[in-house]
Amino acid sequence: MTSPTGPTPEVERPWLDAALPTETRIDLLLAEMTLADKVAQTHQVANIDPEADAEQLRAGRISSSLYASGATAGNERDAGVLVGNIDAAQRHAVEGSRLGIPVLFGRDVIHGHRTVCPIPLGLAASFDPALVEEVATVAAREATVDGVAWTFAPMVDLSEEPRWGRVAESLGETPVLSGRLAAALVRGFQGDDPSDPERLAACAKHFAGYGLAAGGRDYDTVSVGENTLRNLHLRPFKHAVDAGVLTLMAAFNDVDGTPMHAHEHLIRGVLKGEWGWDGMVVADWNGVGQLVNQGVATDLREAAALAIRAGVDLDMCGGAYLAHLEELVESGEVELALVDDAVRRVLRVKFRLGLFERPYAARPGAANAPTPATRAVALRAAQAAHVLVKNDGVLPLDGSQPADGSEPPDGNERAAGTAGSVLLSGAFVDEGEALLGTWTLDGRGDDVVSPGAALRERLGDRVTVSDGRFSDVTLQQVRRADTTVLLLGEHPSRSGEAQSVTDIGLPHGQLDVLRAVAGLGKPLVAVVYTGRPLDLGAVLDLADAVVVVWHPGVEAGNALASILLGDVEPHGRLPMTFPLTTGHIPTSTHQRPTGRLIRADVDRREGRYIDALTYPRLPFGHGLSYSTVDYSAPTVSSTSVAPDGSLTLSVTVTNTGARRCRETVQLYVSDPVAEVTRPLVELTDWRLVDLAPGESREVAFDVSAEQFAYAGRDHTFRVDDGEVVLSTGPDSARLQPVSLTVRSTS
Ligand code: BGC
Repeated sequence: MTSPTGPTPEVERPWLDAALPTETRIDLLLAEMTLADKVAQTHQVANIDPEADAEQLRAGRISSSLYASGATAGNERDAGVLVGNIDAAQRHAVEGSRLGIPVLFGRDVIHGHRTVCPIPLGLAASFDPALVEEVATVAAREATVDGVAWTFAPMVDLSEEPRWGRVAESLGETPVLSGRLAAALVRGFQGDDPSDPERLAACAKHFAGYGLAAGGRDYDTVSVGENTLRNLHLRPFKHAVDAGVLTLMAAFNDVDGTPMHAHEHLIRGVLKGEWGWDGMVVADWNGVGQLVNQGVATDLREAAALAIRAGVDLDMCGGAYLAHLEELVESGEVELALVDDAVRRVLRVKFRLGLFERPYAARPGAANAPTPATRAVALRAAQAAHVLVKNDGVLPLDGSQPADGSEPPDGNERAAGTAGSVLLSGAFVDEGEALLGTWTLDGRGDDVVSPGAALRERLGDRVTVSDGRFSDVTLQQVRRADTTVLLLGEHPSRSGEAQSVTDIGLPHGQLDVLRAVAGLGKPLVAVVYTGRPLDLGAVLDLADAVVVVWHPGVEAGNALASILLGDVEPHGRLPMTFPLTTGHIPTSTHQRPTGRLIRADVDRREGRYIDALTYPRLPFGHGLSYSTVDYSAPTVSSTSVAPDGSLTLSVTVTNTGARRCRETVQLYVSDPVAEVTRPLVELTDWRLVDLAPGESREVAFDVSAEQFAYAGRDHTFRVDDGEVVLSTGPDSARLQPVSLTVRSTS
């Protein structure tokens, strides 16, 4: 490739006129670009270095960078990644190159930047889009201080496969919850105007079907039909697209034989064509090059041709486009129009981010270490992620008065000094970094408030914090304490990318500890740190109370203390079904009816397992509070609705306990007769309702018949005439139905 290098001030840059429409600016810029310039805009490198890459930058040969972080300070390396001097690299591109096109700096900011919040699966347990949006807003503000202009989040792969390590990064198993939370994350990252210096571009990933990797093995093949893709797996992407997400990432997997990086039908056809989305598709790491490993391309050259035809616009770190696209266009094998389209989409992101107006990241005085305000968001997010899945009355511990004498945040009366003595023991007692969870490039273990530190602070000498190593001494401590809080579960290195497991049981040895402690017969609370649904059978049998807390982030300890002591009512709900055992995977709300209907009491005779029943250990949506809530039967404003009409569904919930609580009132839909088999139940809406003791509230859902739409045999969405069942309840297994009829008026 040849091209002019260095600045030529006589070249006018009319595209810098911010008053012009973006598409005009792109046209003006494209008109000045050589083929080599264009191809370079489709090329992303890892770990850009302002010195080593100066020549390439000044030649306009680098469009985007992955991982670099730090606007101005330093120039050190942290784990091989350049920290600092993003602006120095940018200066070469903007002031030293012929066209001055800025570099787009991307980095994985997944659940917080410096102020790390719960892993996405924990955020999903909040069922709270407004809170999740706040989390992303904080992350964007912090990441942009480091020069990050683009994050590779949210991940919206529907997850019904707990062996797959990446369920930790997901927003759970259902399309509407994942979709709404994905949209909230997109709004939080991008704001109303992504060119705001404190916002960045989001990236919905991984398009598509990655959550169905065979056997839960990361990167494995996916065999799924288009109907299931449309009815489930594409829907959260559509929510992200409708929320204005600027970019999407292609998935590593194939879909029914066609690798996603070569999937012209889904990327160019459905996403860019049918949905009319004008954003940019980035490859996943060397995803273009991996088409060779997947056996659909003989070499990188062919891989580049397949991927550009499919609609992959930016080649992440594989170099296939840079090496071969120019020649492929010159030989006529790839149409120039395809490259032009990819470049237009890359440039559109850069214009929308305002990089041409504001290429440099440095914001004098801006800092991004956790502050009381950002910690407050992280604390609320961590509290909302705590899912109380069992309580025989041992919780709350009802510990001390607030240190400052203030009212507890949710208004509950705190009983003084009734907790007695508490032993805190187990795997994560004094951990820092381990509680941040997977995919935290910028979080620091030192910023984490550990469970030990938080409980010592709250309970003083009424808590004994053991060192986490189990021994006879631990058993003595259990005997002496009134209540034992045992921390169990997975280290984050057992969840996340390329961290799949064959067994979703507790890590080795933990069950023995649990049995030994439970054998003493003292009140026992099990707290489970995890990146995935685990087989909690023995934990639920042996402990008096069980709280699933995922990996909660920097406020881990404070969140746990506030929940255990009852300052805050637990209100998280499970965003994924917990199967009975590994052998029961997949178990999810996606179960569709078969010819032999499933009934838990007779399922041995109906084609299921001969050695076990098939109901979930913990159903989707499950979660308790310290109070109890009764549900009335739901009623509807009309039992018949037009396909384009709507109605109101009402249900009355009553707090029948003695404490305030936050109830997640859930609404599910089922379609008994459709053109294709439909899920037995699907979450379609929910409300978070705060209830004082004894309080009753009528909760009204506006239900549009569009919520009953599904992709039929021709894959287009339709609303059929006929019966639809709406059900309400506290989780997917405790529902009360109301039936209605969709009826076309004509
Ligand atoms: C992952 C992506 C991630 C990318 C860049 C890949 O291995 O699949 O989710 O964004 O690396 O870090």
